[in-house]
Amino acid sequence: MSPKSKTGKRRDPGDVAALEPTAGDTGAKVPASPSKATGDSCDPMDPVCICDTMDEIFTHYPREEASLIMILQELQDRFNWLPDAALERIAEELDIPKSRILAVSTFYKSFSLDPRGRKVIKVCTGTACHVRGAGMLLEEFERVLDIPVGEGMTDDGTFSLESVNCVGACAMAPAVLVNDRYYAKVGPGNLGKLLTKERES
Ligand code: FES
Repeated sequence: MSPKSKTGKRRDPGDVAALEPTAGDTGAKVPASPSKATGDSCDPMDPVCICDTMDEIFTHYPREEASLIMILQELQDRFNWLPDAALERIAEELDIPKSRILAVSTFYKSFSLDPRGRKVIKVCTGTACHVRGAGMLLEEFERVLDIPVGEGMTDDGTFSLESVNCVGACAMAPAVLVNDRYYAKVGPGNLGKLLTKERES
């Protein structure tokens, strides 16, 4: 795991899809805004309650501070972000201040404190992609998904949208990453096909 950087993550573009994605996906449902994580106050009718998930996660690790990063990682994997209610539950269970949990959560770039869809679309806006229309592509994603770049997720919890610097796939410009899958030469004309494939996978 590496500390957060403002420049976006450079990856090995080994998984290039060109609108033929190959990697798998968990397909996990993401609660839009989990509100509760403590068993005592759990309302069984609350559709966004995450008590059961938290209870299960705590069966995997000793209740000690040394488990913190592993618990955060599993939470991130399950929800694709770290809901505040879950952080409070972790503070309670591990008996550590929430401020320490927040410090760890903001230090590592693999953790997100903001709600994210189960699929994060990253549009490269590095120089090579920029000159091949990445700016227009990003605007088209915003229009079609009806969400601003860097904020929130689609109503169904499927997609979040981000812009990143060069992802090391300049020959495929404009390049787009959806979670860990690369798409090459994406434009307004094949953006719909990309979204359909990702929604179905
Ligand atoms: S500038 Fe987009 S991949 Fe390099």
